[in-house]
Amino acid sequence: MKMFVVFVILVHVSQHASAVDLYEGEEFVLLPCEYHTFDMDDPSVVWSRYDLNPPTVHQRQQEGDEFIYQNQLYSGRTSMMADALETGDLSLNLTKLRLSDSGTYTCTVRSSRGKQRVREVQLKVKERFPPWAKALLVLLVLGLIVSGGLLVHFRQYFMSVYQVEVDSGVESVLLPCKTTVHLPEDVTVEWTDRYNRKVHLFQNGSDKPEEQNQDYKARTEMKRNLLEPGDLSLTLKYPTDRDSDTFTCTVYNRERKILMKKQVLLEVKVYQVEVGSGEESVLLPCKTTVHLLRHVTVEWRDSDNRKVHVYQNGSDQREEQNQYYRDRTEMKRNLLEPGDLSLTLKYPTYTDSNTFTCTVYSRERKILKKKQVLLKVKVYQVEVDSGEESVLLPCKTTVHLPEDVRVEWTDRYRKVHVYQNSSDQPEEQNQDYRDRTEMKRNLQEPGDLSLTLKYPTYRDIDIYTCTVYNRERKILMKKQVLLEVKVYQVEVDSGEESVLLPCKTTVHLPEDVTVEWTDSDNRKVHVYQNGSDQPEEQNQYYRDRTEMKRNLQEPGDLSLTLKYPTDRDSNTFTCTVYNRERKILMKKQVLLKVKVCQVEVEEGAESVQLPFKTTANLPEDATVRWIRYEPYRTVHVYKNGSDRPDKQNQDYRDRTEMKEDLLKTGDLSLTLKYPKERDTGRYCCNVYSKNIWRWKTVQLTVRGRTRNRSSSIDPTPLMADQSV
Ligand SMILES: *[C@@H]1O[C@H](CO)[C@@H](O)[C@H](O)[C@H]1NC(C)=O
Repeated sequence: MKMFVVFVILVHVSQHASAVDLYEGEEFVLLPCEYHTFDMDDPSVVWSRYDLNPPTVHQRQQEGDEFIYQNQLYSGRTSMMADALETGDLSLNLTKLRLSDSGTYTCTVRSSRGKQRVREVQLKVKERFPPWAKALLVLLVLGLIVSGGLLVHFRQYFMSVYQVEVDSGVESVLLPCKTTVHLPEDVTVEWTDRYNRKVHLFQNGSDKPEEQNQDYKARTEMKRNLLEPGDLSLTLKYPTDRDSDTFTCTVYNRERKILMKKQVLLEVKVYQVEVGSGEESVLLPCKTTVHLLRHVTVEWRDSDNRKVHVYQNGSDQREEQNQYYRDRTEMKRNLLEPGDLSLTLKYPTYTDSNTFTCTVYSRERKILKKKQVLLKVKVYQVEVDSGEESVLLPCKTTVHLPEDVRVEWTDRYRKVHVYQNSSDQPEEQNQDYRDRTEMKRNLQEPGDLSLTLKYPTYRDIDIYTCTVYNRERKILMKKQVLLEVKVYQVEVDSGEESVLLPCKTTVHLPEDVTVEWTDSDNRKVHVYQNGSDQPEEQNQYYRDRTEMKRNLQEPGDLSLTLKYPTDRDSNTFTCTVYNRERKILMKKQVLLKVKVCQVEVEEGAESVQLPFKTTANLPEDATVRWIRYEPYRTVHVYKNGSDRPDKQNQDYRDRTEMKEDLLKTGDLSLTLKYPKERDTGRYCCNVYSKNIWRWKTVQLTVRGRTRNRSSSIDPTPLMADQSV
């Protein structure tokens, strides 16, 4: 369940083009490309982006990687499988993703036979969801799995430390550290935080502010009464949520021997305000009971330190404000006591979820007051199954809207639907949404601007914003909806004869529909048109392996049977039904997960079998190769009707055997004789001919007998010590 959600959110693989969408900062992405380079003379492969100069992203040739042509942007961030040219898996591993990595990547194979553009992959690196939105989704999942167990554990851990809780906004907090033992005069007292940064240092009878970390400058004061009972408590001024931390008070004698160590857990609570996206405004409270002078400066900032609102010399300072908050803030100006410096933030949306800090400075820039407010903007959530005909994204208002409003529905980047001058504006719409949206037009009060989105797939998971502008482009209303699209998941073991990918409809389908099953790389898995299957349209991976139910009578069952699934088939499959005019009638998705085949054997066994059964009657010119990864070794080759021991690695000479009539029966299993512990590893079988390509991984573990014996011995005394 957890894996599934993470997969859906982070790796959006398009069904429109071969496209990969993900978020900046991702550890890596694998851009897929496969080609039968193992059959070619002196092959090389180049990954390029033709919008760059130089265009080369990565180059691999028989001798290894060639970096001299590489574009600087990719320096140190690309890699390919060590044995890419031998296996035909030419995928590019791009690490530490940046927004600027978005673009079209072309995988080109060259050989003595010429040059071939194999495939293009669109990569789109998006900005991340705000951390809270992600946390929310992960928490939802964790909540289901852990159901609280984790929290209990954390609480117990914290209980062992003295805890101080304080509200953000107080002038100071006292971190206690007392001792009843007599301390010598020349002790050193060191207060540190969790990162071991110096919070306060007292040495040789005086404070040492120069040793202090920047974050704590001018904010600490230590009691100096070191006589018994010694009180070394620390006063920390203007605590904010950033000060929530574990502080350690350590006392050393002259020889740096620790005399005492105490910890305090400080929790600075931040006032929380929750509001629904769609409210006209939200109030961030900041009040003070102290008398404020006329010349104070009030600064509201967010947690990115952007200026939200600045008030100085008796008036608002709009030019100091960050662009993002322009025209959206209003501060109470009643600075007489009790001073109310609360801020009104208009049209809050999920991106406004943030910690806001209100700081009051004197004319000398001395902090008089600091207070924080955590704003949480809740977004209405809609959940739908992939396969539903449509989903409704609600946006309603009870206020009367003028006739000439402009309504804009957007996802986080693009225009989804625009309505202006009393009609829809499809030319403004992003093409991913073309023909898929319908807005209610009943703008009478109460105005219902809800949007119908047709054929939702997991690519549509996003936050949608409905904004209403008046004629002067002033915002009248803003509302958000989080759309979650669930995908049906099927999991099978590798080795099953077949798996059923369900796709059913209860609506009556016309006779002349086209049904297309595609995978997430947009490869055609199965095509049904004009009343019959169209195998010539099918990708070579799926050739001879699919069967679609043809009973298109209502209720229409368009489920697909995929035969002999292997780990390579783990993918998101989309079933789309078109009418004669190529209009989509239905779209449904299935996430298939096929487990990697695991084989275990003990060293000393006569032989072990690496199983691979696929469809019978494979083409006679098919080549079968068993290889092993890391280190790359050719284990067995069968070509032109016979075994090719000359192609085989030394290690496997005379130790491998394949079945009789293997192409006829489709049983490509490999027998490996006298398996040794060092045979443990990942094996892969590749069958290739003009029309067919099959692929299966087998993870082999050979348990060594010597290792077994030694691990059954009692742990050594040292290990026993450590485990206590
Ligand atoms: C891609 O490279 C990174 C960094 O070297 C590595 O951690 C990751 O496992 C690689 N991914 C794949 C699928 O090989």
